[in-house]
Amino acid sequence: MMYFNLIFSLLFLQANAWKFFHLGRMSGGNLGEPAGHSSLLSSSSVKTSWFTQILNHFNPRETTTWLQRYYVNDQFYNDGGPIFLMIGGEGEASDKWMTQGHGYYGKSYPTEDLSVKNLVYLSSEQALADLANFITTMNSQYKLKGKWIAFGGSYPGSLAAWLRMKYPHLVHGAMSASGPLLADVDFFDYFRVVDESLKTFSEECLTSIKNANEQVSLLMKHPLGLKKLNKAFKLCDPLESLIGEQKHISNFWETLAGNFAGVVQYNKDNRIGKTKAGNITIDDVCGIMVNETIGIPLDRLAAVNSLLLDANHVKCMDYNYDTMIKELRNISRNDNGARQWTYQTCTEFGFYQTSSYSPQVFGDQFPVDFFIKQCQDIFGSRFDGDFLNQVVDQTNINYGGLDIEVTNVVFVHGSIDPWHALGITKTKNQDAPAIYIPGVAHCANMYPKSDSDPPELNQARVEIENYIDKWLRL
Ligand SMILES: *[C@@H]1O[C@H](CO)[C@@H](O)[C@H](O)[C@H]1NC(C)=O
Ligand SMILES: *[C@@H]1O[C@H](CO)[C@@H](O)[C@H](O)[C@H]1NC(C)=O
Ligand SMILES: *[C@@H]1O[C@H](CO)[C@@H](O)[C@H](O)[C@H]1NC(C)=O
Repeated sequence: MMYFNLIFSLLFLQANAWKFFHLGRMSGGNLGEPAGHSSLLSSSSVKTSWFTQILNHFNPRETTTWLQRYYVNDQFYNDGGPIFLMIGGEGEASDKWMTQGHGYYGKSYPTEDLSVKNLVYLSSEQALADLANFITTMNSQYKLKGKWIAFGGSYPGSLAAWLRMKYPHLVHGAMSASGPLLADVDFFDYFRVVDESLKTFSEECLTSIKNANEQVSLLMKHPLGLKKLNKAFKLCDPLESLIGEQKHISNFWETLAGNFAGVVQYNKDNRIGKTKAGNITIDDVCGIMVNETIGIPLDRLAAVNSLLLDANHVKCMDYNYDTMIKELRNISRNDNGARQWTYQTCTEFGFYQTSSYSPQVFGDQFPVDFFIKQCQDIFGSRFDGDFLNQVVDQTNINYGGLDIEVTNVVFVHGSIDPWHALGITKTKNQDAPAIYIPGVAHCANMYPKSDSDPPELNQARVEIENYIDKWLRL
């Protein structure tokens, strides 16, 4: 077998907040590096290469090309294949994974900057065409005859499934982990799953969060309350200075909710070199939320906030909307992919994790309009709600949403991961089975094993291997 790792890259995270976890995506991408070192991926056998990629696949008169980075490991390749393609996504591809990455993310840049004019080629369709071109070229360059199997987690998980659907003559099968398949402007179900995941600790945890947020709401109505909130939540800007404008207040509430969302989405995964923040689990935050010694629910919510601020090495909670927009308007190339992913949400997917799920444990202050405003403030007024509804419909028409028609694709999701709400979690078609793993988070099956993995996760890994083995014999 041969491994290719193409670098595409981006989905978000916010732990105070948008700087670390934004729009349901961890800064740098949603799939972390795997823990541990597998002999398969021993770095001496991994080569970094650059591929001359077409910028616009849909206009043959446009001949601009750019260099796309990829990693290859042919240590185990025998004539006849198979060839495994790990699709990079909304972060930088790493040589710990054997990946082919995606333009605009990581080190692969098709354009000199990220101006709106240049971002026009950043789309899932161009990414799929990049992959198809890559496979075709590799087949002829190395005279490969084997079958290609695509892998991806998070947005690249969606790409892996769509690649098999659009180019079945090039890709024989795919493993699609935690991939959202249904584009959705108002993804309020995200917080439904966050609530349910927190409830796996205890009902009391969720009740306490709800009570705490109600206390925050009450304090916001009084000058003395504002002072208390400034101190308790270590706010960079005092509330008195920003409370007049809803955009800051929405950002404040979204940040508080994001503290929990980020912890839930990555709960106990096995990524390598976990940061202090990445090590924080549902048990930790819920442990605080139900600990009466710390004080009333509001004090506990503040303690969770402080825990995340400390773990991320930041001194104060920055909820200033204008600061966030200023950073996202920066058209310089960047490694975190935030502007790029935001662009894809504004032009293809939506996926906004709004406060519109009821009962509103995290308040109701970040509805869908707050996110559409961000699209407009970052990219321009024409990226409005009508535009977004139209492009999201187009995405679902193009790929079929949850009615996708494919074979030889296994869809894998974790019950704790809020993104499963936009994916296929039940097998409808035996040729494109779903594996729904109870108790695990985003992309859990993509990381190497650990002793603490639940048996259902180990079982899922075996099933995936069996499916791929079966398809390769077809
Ligand atoms: C995260 O947790 C792992 C496993 O318990 C530990 O080895 C590691 O040192 C922790 N990382 C940090 C930065 O605390
Ligand atoms: C509750 O919080 C107190 C004060 O921080 C701490 O000493 C205690 O260990 C916590 N209790 C539990 C059960 O975690
Ligand atoms: C934009 O980002 C680049 C790279 O991160 C940085 O060097 C530059 O200072 C930023 N520009 C502004 C105006 O903030």
